[in-house]
Amino acid sequence: MSSTWAILHSPACTAIWEVRVHEAPLWRYWGPRLPDGVVPPAPLRHERPEPSFSLHHDVPLSLFPGVGMGWFGAPALAAHRAGLDWTHAATRCSIETLAQDTLRFELIDAVADLAIAITARLDPESDVLTLSTTLTNTGKAVLDVSWLASACLPLPPEAHSVLSYTGRHNSEFVGVEDTLSRSGWRRENRRGLTSHDSFPGALVQCADGTAYGAQLAWSGNHIQSIDWLDDGRRQWLLGEGLAPGELRLNPGDSITTPEVLATVSAQGMDGVSQAFHRAIRTRILWPGGAMSPRKVHLNTWEGFYFDHDLDALKELADAAADLGIERFVLDDGWFAGRDDDTSSLGDWWPDPVKYPQGLAPLAHHVTGLGMEFGLWVEPEMVNPDSGLYRAHPEWALHVDGRPLLTARNQLVLDMSLPQVRTYLFGAIALLLRELPIAYLKWDHNRDLTHAGNRASYRAQVLGTYELMAWLRAAFPAVEIESCAGGGGRIDAGIVAQSHRFWTSDCIDAVSRVSIQRGFLRFMPPELMGSHVGACPAHSTGRMQAMDFRSGVALPGHFGVELDVRQLDQADREELAEAIARYKRLRGQFHQGHVWQGEAGDHVLWQAHGGWHDLLLHVTRTAPTSWRHAPHLRLPMLDPAQTYRVEPEQGEAREIAGSWLIRSGLPLPPMKGEAVLIYRLTAV
Ligand code: GLA
Repeated sequence: MSSTWAILHSPACTAIWEVRVHEAPLWRYWGPRLPDGVVPPAPLRHERPEPSFSLHHDVPLSLFPGVGMGWFGAPALAAHRAGLDWTHAATRCSIETLAQDTLRFELIDAVADLAIAITARLDPESDVLTLSTTLTNTGKAVLDVSWLASACLPLPPEAHSVLSYTGRHNSEFVGVEDTLSRSGWRRENRRGLTSHDSFPGALVQCADGTAYGAQLAWSGNHIQSIDWLDDGRRQWLLGEGLAPGELRLNPGDSITTPEVLATVSAQGMDGVSQAFHRAIRTRILWPGGAMSPRKVHLNTWEGFYFDHDLDALKELADAAADLGIERFVLDDGWFAGRDDDTSSLGDWWPDPVKYPQGLAPLAHHVTGLGMEFGLWVEPEMVNPDSGLYRAHPEWALHVDGRPLLTARNQLVLDMSLPQVRTYLFGAIALLLRELPIAYLKWDHNRDLTHAGNRASYRAQVLGTYELMAWLRAAFPAVEIESCAGGGGRIDAGIVAQSHRFWTSDCIDAVSRVSIQRGFLRFMPPELMGSHVGACPAHSTGRMQAMDFRSGVALPGHFGVELDVRQLDQADREELAEAIARYKRLRGQFHQGHVWQGEAGDHVLWQAHGGWHDLLLHVTRTAPTSWRHAPHLRLPMLDPAQTYRVEPEQGEAREIAGSWLIRSGLPLPPMKGEAVLIYRLTAV
């Protein structure tokens, strides 16, 4: 039987499949770009004689590995019909070219009565391969599905370690590097939303410096696994995590998985991050069609918590406007009866005691000062102590006979119910119609537990996406921030409905350094909410100088989260300068590439921009133990260029690119916690 090749190229990547009529396409290559016209020298099975004690029919890694028919690795599908039809292997394969960069593989399993369509797009702009899978039950009985991978990716034998991220509230993006071995690697999230403790993606490093990355565009449960294969390669599976009974397909029904964004770079992890940033940027739907400069925020949370007083908030707005702040976000505490976190979620109208004339006086005061007005909501939640719960206890996710499990005193609404979405749309739309609200901070402050008599984690995510899309269609000028107890819902799925992530409730600037560096591995800096907090930091009690706090927040989407009325004169002036500096530099921080590096001695750097014009952001997180400061080696620069290196203070000088690459930029002494910014331009 003859093989043909299915090939996708982007400027930096190539994917090649061996396509045969009676099986799923075999993975032959995914890696750095191969020249046009290069194809495997022979069909795979011609190159590998039958090993001892093995099946006569060799089943190599395919795009859709099956079960029971000779594939002994992890399958892409686990499904059955009342215990039958549990073996899976494609019996027919055809390919459709949907566009120059997009293929659709149509697989039929004529024995198990399944149709599987896998769409693969290798985007020439981003170098990101986007994969998703559609499964159709073509049989006559219900198909129970317990696992359906979004994508099965090959990793080369040189892959030696995987960097993934764990964490918790106040400590997001804790990097975990695991050595890949012949034992399996697996990360799983069962918290019902993206989660703090298992970001849905990872980066894989190879001995030759090549790096691979993948992330699942999904805001719910997920699984990813990497397993060693008999030919030395590894398979990387990513997909949604399904609870028992959660996915049952009736005859004729289909399900399409969330997408996986995957990429490979010969430039290592920075190359992977840059490709992700390009891809994520194309997924954001900005009001007006293009990103506007990311406005400086004032968020009321840590300055005021639930203690809302109209006059004090107006004074805060005055002080914020004086500092150059551009958007005032009224956080939790504004709605009916919300004096602490024990009540009122669900009752989305202004508290009549705190706001006797509603929010209009404050909102108009804010807009009158030239700032935008933003509002915090947590639509998917309800407190048992709320009007909404008293009217509709059945709207909260529950399992009959089991106790309700609260977290932060709240329950989760069943977003799969149209009446819930209609209620929430109505309540939020009323606010958006009546008030000059340009921005919603959309929170989700607990994990899901027993999500419905029939498990409905998946329906929960889809219901939320639907509500967000409905609101966005009705109010296209309103931006949305995705928040979940800080960074519990940061993923490429919700990016289609949002414009900013609240990266972490921890605003301690030292803690923020590693959190933000982890974030930037997957997401671009303009989406990274980063605020200047109070001193001492509320989350840690540590004290940090204003210039350090503002320096750490600078490259992201900058904001202020403290009662600026209380600042002493020196801090107020420094903060005003920091805001002006952010406005000067945000255009450059928020476009182009990001590179990250470490110089040793607690000195870390990141650079934003292009190869010939970039901003270098250098952070020291602890006092030195060296007599002389380390030099920063900047491997991404162009060795053929000479660079003008301009510190914010002091003399600019010209240094050869090759010197900066090999020997490095000498640094001045820095305080124990400090940030320096340089501009580097090729002359
Ligand atoms: C979460 C968010 C905070 C704040 C509070 C309000 O913790 O991450 O920024 O909005 O909720 O309750």
